[in-house]
Amino acid sequence: MTDLLESTQVRAMYMSDTASVIEIISDHDDDDGEAAEAEFQDEGVEGHFVLVDGDDVLGISGYREIENCDATYYLSWTYLDEDYQGKGLGKKLLADVLDRLRKQDARKIFVKVSDYEEDGKNVYAAALSMYKSFGFEVEVVGQDFYDDGESQTILGLELTPQSEDLSVADEKPVIRFNGLFEIAETDGAYTFAWIVEKSAGFFGKRSFTPEDLELGISSVKEQGGRKIFLTFPSNLVLIHRPLQAVGFKYVGQLKDYYEEGLHELHFSHDLEGIG
Ligand SMILES: CC(C)(COP(=O)(O)OP(=O)(O)OC[C@H]1O[C@@H](n2cnc3c(N)ncnc32)[C@H](O)[C@@H]1OP(=O)(O)O)[C@@H](O)C(=O)NCCC(=O)NCCS
Repeated sequence: MTDLLESTQVRAMYMSDTASVIEIISDHDDDDGEAAEAEFQDEGVEGHFVLVDGDDVLGISGYREIENCDATYYLSWTYLDEDYQGKGLGKKLLADVLDRLRKQDARKIFVKVSDYEEDGKNVYAAALSMYKSFGFEVEVVGQDFYDDGESQTILGLELTPQSEDLSVADEKPVIRFNGLFEIAETDGAYTFAWIVEKSAGFFGKRSFTPEDLELGISSVKEQGGRKIFLTFPSNLVLIHRPLQAVGFKYVGQLKDYYEEGLHELHFSHDLEGIG
């Protein structure tokens, strides 16, 4: 095994690697393979890296930058060919990807992991334990996120030291919901799209109201949704009362998500058993 640890190399992924990469991901899960293929087609392969032994692609990892945030990233598809797992190669690949991010002054990276079980075994146990061994810490757990009984754990890793107690000024913008959709890769988990309006009329609402939220909740119920997940920046002080009034629960926060001191707050609402 020492041989492979030495002979393999990590290089940038090319579009021409897509077929090999999709095969590796599909061997693990067909749906993930399809989702990854669509994503590579739509968004390209920049920020993705393959572990190769000569011409053979043995693994894939990478990152995508999160829009409208200050040097924040999500870890992307991280998979090793089944025949090569458990030999230290996943660690080699991930260490390389994180090094690249640190060199380009990335601030923080998050990774999402499901707790899906097959034959009583957590399919992502190795991944979770690998992330933790690199210092990733659990920040938010969304119960029943992907499906009933299948949660989503989001772990975060500081890539550069963040200040301890930086606080960002409160804001009271006018927020309007402008759509709702089922969250990708979930069965029946919905979220609302929202925008910040430039200015409020003098008699205009300051923010969304419980009635606005009720409208969204009814639509999700009509569409057969199970659960609603909403996220907001931590400095929006007017969101909490209406959310609480209609039964949203605070789930947790992704620390320093937007920038240092500005976190992403997560809320959820269980629709089962309602009306
Ligand atoms: C996750 C994955 C990329 C790790 O790569 P790997 O080469 O198998 O892992 P390594 O041999 O480098 O081991 C890295 C760490 O993973 C963990 N690990 C590996 N195999 C494990 C197993 N069978 N059970 C529990 N933990 C395991 C350990 O923490 C290990 O570190 P340690 O050896 O210091 O204890 C690989 O197992 C894989 O492709 N899994 C399936 C796909 C997947 O789950 N992807 C992540 C989606 S979020």
